[in-house]
Amino acid sequence: MRKRVVILASGTGSLTQAILDATELDIQIVAVVSDSADAQVLERAKKADINTSVIQLKSDRAAWDRQLFDQVDQYQPDLVISAGFMKILSAEFVTTFPTINSHPALLPEFPGAHAVRDALAAGVTITGTTVHWVDAGIDTGPIITQMEVPVLPGDDEATLHERIKKVERGLIVATIALITPTLETYSR
Ligand code: GAR
Repeated sequence: MRKRVVILASGTGSLTQAILDATELDIQIVAVVSDSADAQVLERAKKADINTSVIQLKSDRAAWDRQLFDQVDQYQPDLVISAGFMKILSAEFVTTFPTINSHPALLPEFPGAHAVRDALAAGVTITGTTVHWVDAGIDTGPIITQMEVPVLPGDDEATLHERIKKVERGLIVATIALITPTLETYSR
């Protein structure tokens, strides 16, 4: 049976698109959940006939954590994929739902929301992308796969991020293929 997957995404959704297009994967994408009503990823999901939900953070962070948890729980996912989701997930969330995250740097270098900018500022000549299990820390969970991407002379944040994302889209798909057979089915 195909594994049930929920994707969390906040923005453009090019990683989500790569997952949607990877029809060889043994998964069923049951929903795309965003924290932003204007996220382009929602259009991509609708075009692919996939359920969408928006959980916007107002002021009460604990209430948002609860809403996100309850919404995702309704979809009964075997795996949650954070693909450009720009919020930290609660400890309860990540200990309940097996969750992976795609990050645009070679963790443990440059965790956080500005990984590409931070790598450029540090003057590294090689950066890359990492897919890791999500734990309660910020980009600290066990690393599953990584690929290096060179920083080229003249790169700025936008050009480097675009080059990383080209690699990232392939790596997230390959990583899903790698872990899918070992996932347990939803059992809450
Ligand atoms: C990706 O580079 C992803 O690694 C990054 O957001 C981008 C999403 O691209 N996520 C983070 O930086 C999370 N810390 P997309 O909207 O085109 O899929």
